[in-house]
Amino acid sequence: MNKDQLQADSTMNQEQDSDFSKIIDTGLSRRRFMQGGASAMGLFLAANPVAQTVAATTQPKSKLLGFSKIATSTADTFVVPEGYVARPLISWGDPILRGAPAFDESGKQPSSAQAGQFGDNTDGMSFFPLSEDRALLAANNEYTNYKLLFDHKGKAMTADDVKKAQAAHGVSVFEIKRTADGWEYSTESDYNRRITANTEMLLTGPAAGHDLLKTSADTSGKKVLGTFNNCANGETPWGTYLTCEENFNGYFAKPGAEQDKHQKRYGIKDDSKYQWYRFDNRFDVTKEPNEPNRHGWVVEIDPMDPTSTPLKRTALGRFKHENAAVVIADNGHVVVYLGDDERGEHIYKFVSRYKYNPSDKQANRNLLEEGTLFVARFNAEDGDVKGSGEWIELTFGKNGLTKDNGFNSQAEVMIFAREAATVVGATTMDRPEWVAVHPQTKTVCCTLTNNKNRGKRVNQPVGGPNPRTANNYGQIVRWKENNADNTSSTFKWDLFLVAGNPTVHKDFYAGSANINDENMFNSPDGLGFDNDGRLWIMTDGKYSNKGDFSGMGNNQVLAADPDTGEIRRFCTGPIACELTGLAFSPDQRTMFVGVQHPGEKDMPSHFPAGGNSKPRSTIMVIQREDGGIIGA
Ligand code: FEO
Ligand code: CA
Ligand code: CA
Repeated sequence: MNKDQLQADSTMNQEQDSDFSKIIDTGLSRRRFMQGGASAMGLFLAANPVAQTVAATTQPKSKLLGFSKIATSTADTFVVPEGYVARPLISWGDPILRGAPAFDESGKQPSSAQAGQFGDNTDGMSFFPLSEDRALLAANNEYTNYKLLFDHKGKAMTADDVKKAQAAHGVSVFEIKRTADGWEYSTESDYNRRITANTEMLLTGPAAGHDLLKTSADTSGKKVLGTFNNCANGETPWGTYLTCEENFNGYFAKPGAEQDKHQKRYGIKDDSKYQWYRFDNRFDVTKEPNEPNRHGWVVEIDPMDPTSTPLKRTALGRFKHENAAVVIADNGHVVVYLGDDERGEHIYKFVSRYKYNPSDKQANRNLLEEGTLFVARFNAEDGDVKGSGEWIELTFGKNGLTKDNGFNSQAEVMIFAREAATVVGATTMDRPEWVAVHPQTKTVCCTLTNNKNRGKRVNQPVGGPNPRTANNYGQIVRWKENNADNTSSTFKWDLFLVAGNPTVHKDFYAGSANINDENMFNSPDGLGFDNDGRLWIMTDGKYSNKGDFSGMGNNQVLAADPDTGEIRRFCTGPIACELTGLAFSPDQRTMFVGVQHPGEKDMPSHFPAGGNSKPRSTIMVIQREDGGIIGA
């Protein structure tokens, strides 16, 4: 989702000057970055061995990347490399529950139709095998566009329209089968399920039952309806799906009343463009002040049991969750890396209290119930673009998380995790989006998508992993935990990649790989390693193809070799889309890529059906003509 208009800035901690900012303010390296011009790029590269490696890549060297690069594109199509085929699997509005009607582009279908159809704006997704040729896909439906959802374009909302919009959100679980023509989805599977903004779920963990989670409809503080703005995802080794609640704030309104400090930090406004609060009291914060506290969590879903109750895991903290990257540390604890996607917010990690039991799946079902949440502080050394870092514990009574600083319990630390992160001095980042963990080395990468406020706000100084003022291109930060132990409290970091435009800029806004034309993209967002260690980068950037973004074309997917730093463009999406959501079959011979919001802002897309059709968010299936491994 393109957040420029939706996202509030983090305002509560603007005045705070963290220890981190003092460190870089006193360093020479900060000044180097402030110089601009070609010499700054030289220093930038000199300070960054990773960038040096990338820049030195004049000829393809990678043994990991075996496909022919494609060019940037402004066409209204989905383009893949030579020798590959891509076709639509499922689009917004396709029926997935028995009896649901076919998609009707009039925008006049009622809420009951949408409740049985694939939701809108597909995002993070995971593949759960049932057998060699059958699997479940669980896919997030992040948000919906009223201009496409309704014939009246949102200008004449009714109570049923609100229900329809709520049903376009959430998660879709559906069976897919491998046929002679490739993978197809089934409308006749007992596994198929829609989870929407009205599905009953349970709050679990340290905040469950707290007074701040109680509403007039739920005096237990544990039962909550629905999940929405489900951005990216995660999956656990015990077979569950994690869906991450991102810009939940945008669905609430507090008309005619001042927001309290917590509501300001989480971005509650006096109005909401979705208008749910006009017909559904729980979205009116003047009537239900605690309802927003019940959203902004990671939700665990068992896709194999369509009657199961989704569980909101409060031990993972409440913020604008992007994805949840799960790894079992060598010592057996479950580690979940988490980004909070807003300008100047933070990167977190959860470490489970108990250990993973590889011999008994069921024994792991509540590992996300109890544990410790940490937030990252990045220190800059030897120049601004590499250094050490530490994970600071967010536990009540420690690190200043006390009554004196406004926290009365662990529940409050989790509900207001952002504010706790500020108290402990976490580093403010350039919008942390997806985190991915290398399957063999356990090295971690996180996309920092862009941040127009960098260097402009007191709490967001230039330096460390956020080295550019008014950063409109983004970068990928990479860290290795001490002793390769993902539960460690310290790490070393560098920048794996700095996006930029070498045809427009000669300074460090050219990006770190300005030799070949494949580093021509902005706003890295989706991120994932395949089993062989290829790093897949998906973009949610500006597609104007003008000015700073000229030559970049539509949003894209690129593959990177983490060892050589080489990047190669793999696919490009249709007009005004973002490519987000990534899954592979276990044999890595099928790749699923989500096309979100084609034709947003009235741009002329008719993807995927062509002609004069309405643009529809769609999951694409990509395979090789020779049946080989994707990307190899
Ligand atoms: Fe839903 Fe931060 O992207
Ligand atoms: Ca995203
Ligand atoms: Ca994004």
